Amino acid sequence: MNQGTEVANRGLDKIAWVRAHMPILEEIRARFSRETPFRGKTLSLVLHVEAKTAALALTLKAGGADVHLAASNPLTTDDEVVAALRFEGVETFARKGESMEDYQKGIEAMLAARPDIIVDDGADLVVAAATKGLKVIGSTEETTTGVVRLRAMEKDGKLPWPAIDVNDATMKHLFDNRYGTGQSTLDGIFTATNLTIAGKTAVVAGYGWCGKGVASRLRGLGADVIVTEIDAARAVEARLEGYRVRKMIEAAPEADLIVTVTGCADVVTRKHFEVMKDGCLLANSGHFDVEINKKDLAAMATRHRRARPMVEEYVFKDGRRVYLLAEGRLVNLSAGQGHPAEIMDMSFALQALSAEHILKSGKKLKPGVHPVPVELDERVARAALDAYGAQVDVLTEAQKRYLDSWQDGT
Ligand code: ADE
Repeated sequence: MNQGTEVANRGLDKIAWVRAHMPILEEIRARFSRETPFRGKTLSLVLHVEAKTAALALTLKAGGADVHLAASNPLTTDDEVVAALRFEGVETFARKGESMEDYQKGIEAMLAARPDIIVDDGADLVVAAATKGLKVIGSTEETTTGVVRLRAMEKDGKLPWPAIDVNDATMKHLFDNRYGTGQSTLDGIFTATNLTIAGKTAVVAGYGWCGKGVASRLRGLGADVIVTEIDAARAVEARLEGYRVRKMIEAAPEADLIVTVTGCADVVTRKHFEVMKDGCLLANSGHFDVEINKKDLAAMATRHRRARPMVEEYVFKDGRRVYLLAEGRLVNLSAGQGHPAEIMDMSFALQALSAEHILKSGKKLKPGVHPVPVELDERVARAALDAYGAQVDVLTEAQKRYLDSWQDGT
């Protein structure tokens, strides 16, 4: 067997493993294979190119789509999965550690495919397609950051098609953002550092759904967690959950580990580096590598070296060292393996159903951001219930009449 085939085979094994743990998507794939709803259509996907994403790409392909895939981040690609996808006939433009220029070429390749539908993670492809004046039926968006960008485009009248906000579907953000980011962020930190969490003071910046997940998993492993926030209500929520809540400037000197999950820029900057303890670990799980200011870090450091794969040591004039994980990019996918398969099963089931919804109803939808239809959210919830072997009660007719009586005002 030549080396290329071996690499592809390892990728195929990884895909087979996750597919065995993604029953909801598998059921959709079986239906898509029978019905081929995407026959004759081209789909361009900009996502983190790893095994669970491959399961989605192959599901859409099974539905008859001509699928093109590029990376949504230069560091989050699994090259074995890329080889496997190419073997399976999915045009894939991604390489782990690719330059920003190659990253841009990936986006260009997605545009050149002239997609009918876009599946995006972070909205880079939508921005590029709208700027180029591409005509697409519609798009779907995976992340909080992407939805923020889409809403800004909508406000400025620059979003020319319907975009489905998969991120805010109940069966997405409640599980993917919280339990997915919670677990995969720690996976990335473990893999990068091989250090303990127990006994460390960990600062979590941002207490949205992702921050809640990261804080809870850190606490579960024995960390003393401090939360930083800009939103008063969320800060109170964190406090009532039992965390200390501080400004970053007060939290930074105590931190053994800082994890940013805000979606905002300049959360950790020069003034924070100035007061950090020797040895502080810095990780980001937000979409862009802007939360920890790398320019400040480089400007302050007198020396800089790679301490381990995915760990850069910066030494300051006074001898203090700080360690930046995964170049400040998404630590959960750059150093870790991304969200667990069972979580991405729900998220990507919503993506597959939303892409089908765009195909069926996109021409009727107005340009702008649209929620995932509740029936699709409910369909994924029911399928997840089966997958987890859980059951729910059913209202009796008398109970329904009781609830209806309140709605009627009787
Ligand atoms: N795997 C594929 N896409 C992902 C995402 N957006 N977050 C975490 N893991 C993923």
